[in-house]
Amino acid sequence: MTLKEKIALCEGKNFWETKDFPAYGIPSMFMCDGPHGLRKQESRGDHVGVHDSRPATCFPSAVTTACSWDQELLGQIGAAIAAEAADQGVGVFLGPGVNIKRNPLCGRNFEYFSEDPYLAGKLAASFIKNAQKKGIGTCVKHFACNNQEYRRLNSDSILDERTLREIYLTPFEIAVREGKPKTVMCAYNKINGTYCSDHKELLTGILREEWGFDGLVMTDWSAMHDRVAGFRAGCDLNMPGGSNYMAREVLDAVARGELDEADIDRSAARVIKMVREAAEALKNKVPCDYDAHNELARIAAEQSAVLLKNEDHILPLKKEQKIAIVGKMAKDIRYQGAGSSHINPTKLVQPIEVLGEGVRVEEADVAVVLTGLPPEYEGEGFDRDHMMMPAEEVKLIEEVAAKNPNTVVVLFCGAPVETPWADKVKAILYMGLPGQAGAEALKNLLYGVANPSGKLAETWPLKYSDCPSASYYPQRDGQYREGIYVGYRYYDKANVDVRWKFGYGLSYTEFAYADPVLDGETVSVTVTNTGSYAGAEIVQLYVAPPQDGIHRPLRELKRFAKVHLQPGESKTVRFELDERCFAVWDDGWKVPSGRYTILVGGQPDQLLVAGTIDKVGQTVAIPSWQPGSWYEKPQGAPSLEQWEQMLGRKYQPHVPQKGQFTMNDALADMKDHSLVMRVMYWNVRRKITRGLQPGTAVYRMLAESSVTNPLRSMQIFSGLRPSFFHGLLAMANGRFFHGLKLLLKRD
Ligand code: BGC
Repeated sequence: MTLKEKIALCEGKNFWETKDFPAYGIPSMFMCDGPHGLRKQESRGDHVGVHDSRPATCFPSAVTTACSWDQELLGQIGAAIAAEAADQGVGVFLGPGVNIKRNPLCGRNFEYFSEDPYLAGKLAASFIKNAQKKGIGTCVKHFACNNQEYRRLNSDSILDERTLREIYLTPFEIAVREGKPKTVMCAYNKINGTYCSDHKELLTGILREEWGFDGLVMTDWSAMHDRVAGFRAGCDLNMPGGSNYMAREVLDAVARGELDEADIDRSAARVIKMVREAAEALKNKVPCDYDAHNELARIAAEQSAVLLKNEDHILPLKKEQKIAIVGKMAKDIRYQGAGSSHINPTKLVQPIEVLGEGVRVEEADVAVVLTGLPPEYEGEGFDRDHMMMPAEEVKLIEEVAAKNPNTVVVLFCGAPVETPWADKVKAILYMGLPGQAGAEALKNLLYGVANPSGKLAETWPLKYSDCPSASYYPQRDGQYREGIYVGYRYYDKANVDVRWKFGYGLSYTEFAYADPVLDGETVSVTVTNTGSYAGAEIVQLYVAPPQDGIHRPLRELKRFAKVHLQPGESKTVRFELDERCFAVWDDGWKVPSGRYTILVGGQPDQLLVAGTIDKVGQTVAIPSWQPGSWYEKPQGAPSLEQWEQMLGRKYQPHVPQKGQFTMNDALADMKDHSLVMRVMYWNVRRKITRGLQPGTAVYRMLAESSVTNPLRSMQIFSGLRPSFFHGLLAMANGRFFHGLKLLLKRD
């Protein structure tokens, strides 16, 4: 192939396909979202789930399946989505997403698994391994530190190396090492000043050389920053295609000897390998059983629901009881999130259809309120404004609870909400976003046909202000001041009361733990179902590291297993530990010497000590700034100064300025400094949101993303001439006539 052809191969053909070169026997390949089911768009493509897609099974979202803590289940879902991909001619599907839930307000948390890197990584690895068994590829995303939606396209995630490694990269590391995904998607944002697409240390040093990744890296849709740097870094495929983004600059860089053609060859070879493998996998049409997948979606929702409260064993309901069914979501279930993961389901049943209308609240033995977050409260492209439910939903719960002492609340939401009403109701069942068969799952759970066995994969704080990052999240730059103290790592160490802890969840049955044993580095514990229902228990193992050296969380999840037990049945669960269970990142993984306590159990505040291990490891020095710092004794929010000391440098926020605007700035950055940009801002916003209902999730997503797209991203999406955008940019920088000349130029 010529150099030009190789460069062209490394950009998509259009929104979803790679380029074909029949002369060289290179077919094109179709990709599509996403993590919870396919979103194959055959006519108009978009990256925020606005236009229609082919029907596919809508599985519960990651926020929900994470609560199953069930690697096998995630594997079954991965395999089912891959089967639908094969059926629909899709070679690689874009999921799973393993970003850490750093703050509960991130609008896209519903697409991610957990605040804990180990749990997120293990669930993703199983999903990937099973999805890829028959040759269809997955794409782990968004690599890395994409933890806010606000300004996601040009924000800079600023964090220290230890936090990066221990918290934010670990889920990717596990997913890559164990799952061996065929592709990885680099994130939109920068990390410490470098865009992920240009980040050689990230995409080659860490991903390939350290973790052994041998697949392809593609950009998130329009995340390519500098195509020349991207080739050098190992960013292989620029998506979406159609703009020839920086193709000329790449040619020039090769001609000048600044870019090695071998870098392009390597990326082109990876594209060829990916598309040929996909073509092979798609050769044999295997019929796909969409009914069976609907069943799997139901089972997944049942296995993932978390019973948060169940006073007086009010649940399960009894057949003879008179039940009131209350709330808008009874007729309009919230079962998936908005954005690129949005699926056109093959079936959808409403709760009211399976539960019936029921009786009036006054007359009912039990009142069941179906509530949660409406779609416009959370979605891709924007963060939540607060952690509360809509006032009218809270009012409804309180009114029903006042009328009927036996009130059960069923929550549908993609992230934790404040629950000041929790003490007023008898039971709370958290369904998350349960997918297309959520209503049937709910019926089975309410009536005890299925027994809730999920446990929370993230902490539910009492109120938003309890989160360490509450006062500085989100800003254009992600200031990761809290360091490694994300989720329970913070709440535990700061001793902050929360509503429900990470790892918490009830069942209709009871489990007893006995004989925790530590033998060398093998841990075992026996679990017995002492109640009267068959059920499943999630056994968790935490390592509590020494607290007298480098600052560390009080305990960290290192192993888990889900066991199914009949009433009276016992099983012994065994875990093998390895060095990583004890390690910190200090210029490499090191095990600090000291005493480590091994804790096992099913509820976070009822853990048993299996034993202690005295490690004679490496010396890990206490950083000079640590004594007396927030990181030693976290409480509230860390100050900017404390963080800078930990970071080892001053933080300099990016302040967009006239005269210095670049292609990385967005209309929203420039509108207050330039009339041209102001006109563009309002026009683009108006045009993009035309015909949409203000306040809806789609409106919020489009209104926000249209004007926060950096100019280069607009160029990639639109495929318009680069000089058009460079012309606008020159005008915004005060060089009006130069800009005009560029605008009129033909490239
Ligand atoms: C999202 C990705 C998605 C892609 C394609 C982007 O906006 O961040 O997760 O896969 O669009 O739809």
